[in-house]
Amino acid sequence: MTTLVIGGAGYIGSHVVRLLLEKGEEVVVIDDLSTGFEERTKGADLVRLDITAPDAADRIAFHLKASGADSVIHFAAHKRVGESVEKPEMYWHDNVGGLANVLEACATARVRDVVFSSSAAVYGVPDVDLVTEDIETRPINPYGATKLVGEWMLADAERAHGMRTVALRYFNVAGAGWPDLADTLTLNLVPIILDALEKGKAPIVFGDDYDTPDGTCIRDYVHVLDLAHAHVAALEYLRGEERPHRVFNVGSGSGSSVLEVIDAVSRATGETITPQIGERRAGDPARLVCSKDRIAESLGWSSEQTLDDIVRSAVEARRSA
Ligand code: WQD
Repeated sequence: MTTLVIGGAGYIGSHVVRLLLEKGEEVVVIDDLSTGFEERTKGADLVRLDITAPDAADRIAFHLKASGADSVIHFAAHKRVGESVEKPEMYWHDNVGGLANVLEACATARVRDVVFSSSAAVYGVPDVDLVTEDIETRPINPYGATKLVGEWMLADAERAHGMRTVALRYFNVAGAGWPDLADTLTLNLVPIILDALEKGKAPIVFGDDYDTPDGTCIRDYVHVLDLAHAHVAALEYLRGEERPHRVFNVGSGSGSSVLEVIDAVSRATGETITPQIGERRAGDPARLVCSKDRIAESLGWSSEQTLDDIVRSAVEARRSA
């Protein structure tokens, strides 16, 4: 089996590439290396290509045919929520336009199976304890909106071209499956805390007056290697007969507060951390924890690693960098 991984030089993509290679699958990576690293794709063929370029659909189709790929996993997209609010056109153009090129290429090359990186950002600020896939989707920023539209595009491609697709709605991804595949961007809580500690600064908690047990926001943290396994399970699901669903949450199903994450970092580093309590950040739901039932039932996947495992792996990867 050959899989084309678009965005395979990035943080999550490179974990999936390595897992597929370890399973003995052939992997071709397409990446423009704008945020990814070539050395993370060792063992796969790397094609440097901007999927938003005017001729991208033809070029992707060429590589699909040349490699004989039978499935595509599509990661390549912008993922900064704040940036998406400031530069919405860039998000619509690149995230949606890039996906349109990928789907057009799949149709041309007659590739049937596509796995797409979606996000819990499609839900917005849901007022439920556990988020199931069928609650209303109400994204509150352009990033989340482009992911939701991406899911609709997959549904259209299924109808038009007989494709089979899965959208994985990631919750809060962190950690490292291999030390050389660490999250190098300081966009999310765990790398932000580690970065602050390295600089001798106190991490900032965005509000401690939420209606949660310790007053800080609760999220569902999932280990990037567990998430990578979910992609492999999604490919197997697409290759099978029964396909009752095409959208799945990917999370642990349990929540951790910001202060609990900071405590986990303290345990992993051995450092005493005294965070600074800051203002609330606009658009933050108090609690965002997924229901994991659907993915467990349909894909046979559930996360295995705890918050301590996640944070420890992130600390170790940073130390070895
Ligand atoms: C986690 C928690 C913050 C930084 C985002 C996207 C989402 C998805 C995952 C891609 C929150 C708090 C953070 C800090 C803090 N991305 N925090 N101090 O916002 O849950 O989700 O990443 O698909 O779409 O929205 O993740 O890591 O920014 O924050 O207190 O310096 O940590 O308020 O409660 P978020 P995050």
